[in-house]
This record gives sequence, C-alpha cells and structure tokens, in this order.
Amino acid sequence: MTMTDKDTDLARFAAAAIERLRVQDPELYAILDNEYSRQANVLTMVASSSIADPSALICEALPTMNVTAEGYPGARFHAGCRHIDEIEQLAIDRCKAVFGAQFANVQTMSATSANEVVMFSVMKPGDTLLGLELDFGGHLTHGSKASLSGQVFNAIGYGLTKDERIDYDQARERALEHKPKLIICGTTAYSRTIDWARFRAIADEVGAYLLADITHIAGLVAAGLHPSPIDHAHFTTTCTHKQMYGGRGGLVMIGKDHDQLGPDGKTTLAKLIQKRVFPYFQGAPNQSAIASKARGLAFVASPEFQGVAQRVVDLAAALADAFSKKGYRVVFGGTDNHIVVVDVMEKGITGVNAEKALEACGIVVNKNRIPYDQKPPHVTSGIRLGTNGLAIREMEPSDMVECVDLIDEILGALKQVSDREFELDPAFQASIEERVRAITRRRPIRSYPAPLDF
Ligand SMILES: Cc1ncc(COP(=O)(O)O)c(C=O)c1O
Repeated sequence: MTMTDKDTDLARFAAAAIERLRVQDPELYAILDNEYSRQANVLTMVASSSIADPSALICEALPTMNVTAEGYPGARFHAGCRHIDEIEQLAIDRCKAVFGAQFANVQTMSATSANEVVMFSVMKPGDTLLGLELDFGGHLTHGSKASLSGQVFNAIGYGLTKDERIDYDQARERALEHKPKLIICGTTAYSRTIDWARFRAIADEVGAYLLADITHIAGLVAAGLHPSPIDHAHFTTTCTHKQMYGGRGGLVMIGKDHDQLGPDGKTTLAKLIQKRVFPYFQGAPNQSAIASKARGLAFVASPEFQGVAQRVVDLAAALADAFSKKGYRVVFGGTDNHIVVVDVMEKGITGVNAEKALEACGIVVNKNRIPYDQKPPHVTSGIRLGTNGLAIREMEPSDMVECVDLIDEILGALKQVSDREFELDPAFQASIEERVRAITRRRPIRSYPAPLDF
C-alpha cells in the first residue's frame, strides 16, 4: 500500500484515538471526561496554573512521543530524528524570539529541573546559594530544606522589608557575608515588580552568578508587562504551563552572557547548560512536550496574547481592590502581576480551611503562607489567587467584584472548628455552587468548544 496524505492524516488519527479510548477504556475515559468538565465548571484562580489551548494540549498526545531522540538537533544519538529536530529547533527559535534570548534549551521537564540544571552548572555540592525565603514568596527550589536545593547546597535566605517588598539591602548584606556562588531571584507568591538590575549589581559585587526564575510571570515578561531579566541575569528559567498557556515543561535561557566562560574557565555558559540537561540530568527528551512548548510559544508571540496578558494584570488589580474594599488585608499592599495574596487569618480562618470551603463551592485557590506566618505549611494564614485562568475566560474587572463577593460570603458562612476542620451548611454550599456555575456559563473558557452544555 502506498502512503497517501489521507492515510497519514493527523486530525483523523487524533479523533480516532479519543474514540478508541472512549470505547476500549470507559473507566479511564470517564475520569478524564469528568476532569475536563470540572475545569469548565469551576472558577480556577490558582496562580500557578493557566488553561492551555487545545492546540497546545494535542501536541502532547501525538506520535512524536514514540521517538527516542537523545541529544540535540543535528547531533542525536538515535536515527529517525529528522522531524524531531525540526520541532525542537522551532521551539528553540520561538523561545529565543519571544524572550529576546541568545540561547535556549527547551528540553527540561519542569521549572524545577530547569533550576536544578542551572544550579549544577555553576555550583558543586556544598557551595552556597542565596535565594528568597519560602515564607516571603520564594520557591522550594530556591534553597528550601524540603528540596534538593536546600539539601545539597548551603542555602542562605533573604527576605522582605517591613513594607513587604524584596529587601535588596538585606540580599546584598547576606551576599557580602556569605559569598554565594549563585543568587536566585524570582518568586512564587510575591505580587510586586522585581528589580533584576539591582540583583545583577549584587551578583557582580560578590562574583556570583544570577538566576532569574520567571516561572510565575513569564507571560507578562513576554508581553512587556514586567521588565525582562534576560540580559540582567546569567540564566533565566521558566516553565511553560503556568503563564504561557502551553504544555508542561521547562525552559532555560541565556541573554548576553551566553558565551561567557563558566567556573572552569573553558566552557561557555550555554555549553554548560546543554551538558547539564543531557546527559547529566536527562536522557531522551519528551518531544511531544517540546512540540507543545513550541505551540505555547507561538501563542505568547501572537498579537492576541498581548490582550490576554493585559487582562491578567487588570483583573488582578481589580481583584486586590475588591478584597481591600471588603476589609481584607491584601499582602504586599496590592499587586503588579497576576497574583493576589490575602491574609484570611485576620478573619479567624486558616488558609487550608478557606481553600477547602472555597473548593467545595466551585472556587479553586491555594492556601499560602504569608510573611511571618505563625501557621505550618499545611495550614497557613493566607490564600493565593491568580488571574491567568480568568483572563482566558475573557472576564472583566467588574466580574472580580462578584468573585470577591462570593468568596466573602463563603468565608463568612464557614464555621471554623479547628485549624484544619470547618463546617459549611450544605444548602448554602449548593446555592453558591449554582452561582459559580452561572459565572462559568456566562464566561466560558474561550478556547473550549463553548458554551459547554452540562
Ligand atoms: C518560582 C517557581 N519556580 C519553580 C517552580 C516549579 O515549577 P514546576 O512545577 O514546573 O517544577 C514554581 C512552581 O510553582 C515556581 O513558582
């Protein structure tokens, strides 16, 4: 049989595949279908997520997955990689164009692995790193004892000023005192603009490398709504699934320092990253995820994305404002990005109880520690909300008032029994759930075949 275009039609392949799953494995299909419906019907305000476009998601499900392709485009350890090379090169080119980078590695599986790659490129076990402390909005991978970064390296932390801004003076003092090999900036629960140049000045003063982890704000950076660290930091990392609306994975980028020599005085920073990704940390990359990254990067590069990113910021400002007007303390005094952190302990409610009660009513947020939190990480005194998932529903700032009204009603009705237990009247819960459904029907996920009729 000769292969015609029709025989190898990818669209037919994808449609037949989902039908085969439905018929041959109804148990799994039902769970997957329920998850699809859940996402359509709840208001997801999780700051560390977005809603990937179906065209990005489908890339992860295609036969690219069947190819083992250790190495890099043009230099593989396996045959059969002609198109795989094209996909990876496309992702690299799009990544460099979107972020203005000179170098990009698109193979890491997550931002966590991207950060580990950078750490092991310029540090040896026992070396000192300096990162923002977890309680002040830093990430686990920036030196927490709970992660490899805090176990293998001597992690020193910096914090916030009294007015809840990154304490650059303290970061400098700690850097001068501890002489870190690597300084990490970038945050997971901090809603204010980061001054990359100031961090680079500190790094240069003590002879450290600088890693900017833009995992949370990559979309805003790409859209020019947050300053870019690319030419300030030696390395910039991100994942593609939080604010880039792409598939799951990580990126490591370098700007003007790409051909600077690393700690051995022989290998460029770009080459060091390539070697640390493969073969040091990873074998054959997930080429389907790389295709999905390429698709997400194309979306971020589109003129349409500019509007999405602007909406992300506008909605977050409106959300913070609505919380303040209801008498809640908004941590960091407001927001410059997509994140809003709210102190719920001031209302006598723990973060975990707030998270669970809101989820029971169809609103998904995260419990989050707040600066100087007295509660442990599984309890917390705050919640963190984000607007990536709301922007893709084309919500308006006025909708944020309605969302905060609902959240306030739920928290007001919640009876806290203990730090981890609460009561919520089932009839009240059902009535709020119905109101949330009305919002999700009015504002369907734009990229889904909408409106979904459940
Ligand atoms: C700043 C930062 N870096 C890294 C990560 C880890 O991302 P991933 O889930 O891709 O490993 C996160 C996750 O929330 C983050 O906020």
